[in-house]
Amino acid sequence: MKHFPNSCTISFLLLVAFAYQTLAQTATAPAPAGPKNITAILEKAGQYTTFIRLLRSTQLGDQIDNQLNNSNTGLTVFSPTDNAFSNLPPGTLNSLSDQQKVSLLQFHVLSTAISMSQFQTVSNPVRTQAGDANDGGFPLNVTTTGNQVNISTGVVNTPISNTIFSDNQLAVYQVDQVLLPMKIFGSPAPAAAPAPAAELEKEKKKKPSNVPEGPSTSSPVTDSDATSSTLNLKWRGGIGIAAAVISLCWSF
Ligand SMILES: *[C@@H]1O[C@H](CO)[C@@H](O)[C@H](O)[C@H]1NC(C)=O
Ligand SMILES: *[C@@H]1O[C@H](CO)[C@@H](O)[C@H](O)[C@H]1NC(C)=O
Ligand SMILES: *[C@@H]1O[C@H](CO)[C@@H](O)[C@H](O)[C@H]1NC(C)=O
Ligand SMILES: *[C@@H]1O[C@H](CO)[C@@H](O)[C@H](O)[C@H]1NC(C)=O
Repeated sequence: MKHFPNSCTISFLLLVAFAYQTLAQTATAPAPAGPKNITAILEKAGQYTTFIRLLRSTQLGDQIDNQLNNSNTGLTVFSPTDNAFSNLPPGTLNSLSDQQKVSLLQFHVLSTAISMSQFQTVSNPVRTQAGDANDGGFPLNVTTTGNQVNISTGVVNTPISNTIFSDNQLAVYQVDQVLLPMKIFGSPAPAAAPAPAAELEKEKKKKPSNVPEGPSTSSPVTDSDATSSTLNLKWRGGIGIAAAVISLCWSF
């Protein structure tokens, strides 16, 4: 009984510290958004020099920064790599008028910040800053397969291959092809029609009930799933510590 205050007090303090830390992590709010600089973000990431040059020459880069500083909904930017631009047929960019260059770049910008997991539920066609999503000029469609997100324009169909930057106000993604809009680059012969997003959605929703739970399931793990299972582990750890404390105190 003599040891009771010491060991129990220390153990309880540890438990309280653990619980406090877990709660604090659960409640952490996103950092407040300050003015952001799309050019600086892309420069830091490397391999986007052509896109940066176009953002400068069209002044769309400044407009994006202005919008970020004033927008409630944020922005999403699809940034093609230097390779994506050099894979275009020679002279493609030079053949465009200034207005077409602006439209091409605006086609890579959405007026909301969309996270990778939110792409699963967007409705097609998605409106870009180039406008005219519905009348055939600038449709941009999102299709998802598991965690893979594809962007299709009717001219190209390419996956989002990397997240360059993402917070609740700005999402910047790498694409390995320039997103060529129908209005400027015409419609190629209609190839095999891609599965409509709605059908893919249904497939995905059916899966979890058909597939037994376990490490072998191929159903996508979203960010929030990952976060909640981490928290579960923590809480289980907390319960373990609590049990240890109780049994320790009991034994004295
Ligand atoms: C944004 O970053 C670029 C590159 O670091 C810099 O040249 C430009 O001046 C910055 N713009 C603003 C408004 O700070
Ligand atoms: C951001 O917006 C605030 C308030 O509207 C303004 O005072 C500030 O100059 C803006 N900053 C930039 C870099 O545009
Ligand atoms: C985009 O999706 C809409 C709605 O599902 C569809 O009507 C349209 O044909 C699609 N366009 C492209 C280019 O995939
Ligand atoms: C996504 O794009 C890749 C590369 O073009 C293609 O192989 C794949 O089939 C596409 N997936 C969907 C769902 O469109």
